Amino acid sequence: MANLTGKTAVVTGGNSGIGYATAERLKADGATVIITGRSKERVATAAGELGVTGLVADVGSVAAISSLADEVKAKFGKVDVLFVNAGIFELAPLGSISEEMFDRQMGTNFKGAVFTVEKFLPILNDGASIINLSSINAYTGMPNTAIYAASKAAMNSFTRTAATELAPRRIRVNAVNPGPVVTPIFGKTGMLEEQLNGMVAAVQERSPLKRLGQPKEIASMVAFLASDEASFITGGEYNVDGGMNINPLLG
Ligand SMILES: NC(=O)c1ccc[n+]([C@@H]2O[C@H](COP(=O)([O-])OP(=O)(O)OC[C@H]3O[C@@H](n4cnc5c(N)ncnc54)[C@H](OP(=O)(O)O)[C@@H]3O)[C@@H](O)[C@H]2O)c1
Repeated sequence: MANLTGKTAVVTGGNSGIGYATAERLKADGATVIITGRSKERVATAAGELGVTGLVADVGSVAAISSLADEVKAKFGKVDVLFVNAGIFELAPLGSISEEMFDRQMGTNFKGAVFTVEKFLPILNDGASIINLSSINAYTGMPNTAIYAASKAAMNSFTRTAATELAPRRIRVNAVNPGPVVTPIFGKTGMLEEQLNGMVAAVQERSPLKRLGQPKEIASMVAFLASDEASFITGGEYNVDGGMNINPLLG
């Protein structure tokens, strides 16, 4: 367990999947936790289950992120841990990439991440920890993921520059690259159950550990990076992927 006693943590996209599990873990480690999401009902339900504060903010809107930061400041003061996690996963092959899909994915996953950091910067304590939830897709050529992968690659690049620029304030900035993790995200792609099962089987076959990850396994890495145990770690990227990204030739 990391010790986060006395720290305030914001988890964007905390009403589901990895964000939900991480909010649970950060709270168990002693932090005061605020989760965000788009839907009032989903945020309220998750906040009630977790025993944390839930605030509604669509990261697709810079004005909404700005209001969120104002609300957090008014209710909690300064923030020590910013988990930039809200994201969407949409599939389309080259030749079928629409402008709307490009704008939605880049707008949520990259622009949303950049402006979450921008708007929270004034209320981050010196010595705070920012963790950007990226993906091993940033480094793979998985079919149909060109825009999703690019949005995460952009996030990793942003992480490195932010780490350099924020170091004078001792704010650490790191990225976590999960492999496939069991969350509702895949069910939101519109893939048929048969296609989803096929993808899961193919992924498991390629992974050295022969399974998908669980949200709690990403939360452990985030909790570590959030804590003072990671005090000399900034500008890094950490794969939590069951070995998938080493791309071994498996028999
Ligand atoms: N699961 C995986 O295999 C995997 C692998 C690598 C990386 N990731 C990344 O992990 C992050 C979390 O995904 P997940 O797998 O936990 O999926 P998930 O269960 O679908 O959760 C996504 C969360 O992001 C929120 N969100 C989406 N768009 C938003 C917006 N515009 N404004 C505010 N909140 C928004 C969702 O809230 P709503 O309920 O309002 O939609 C939800 O809370 C994403 O960045 C994803 O790209 C996931």
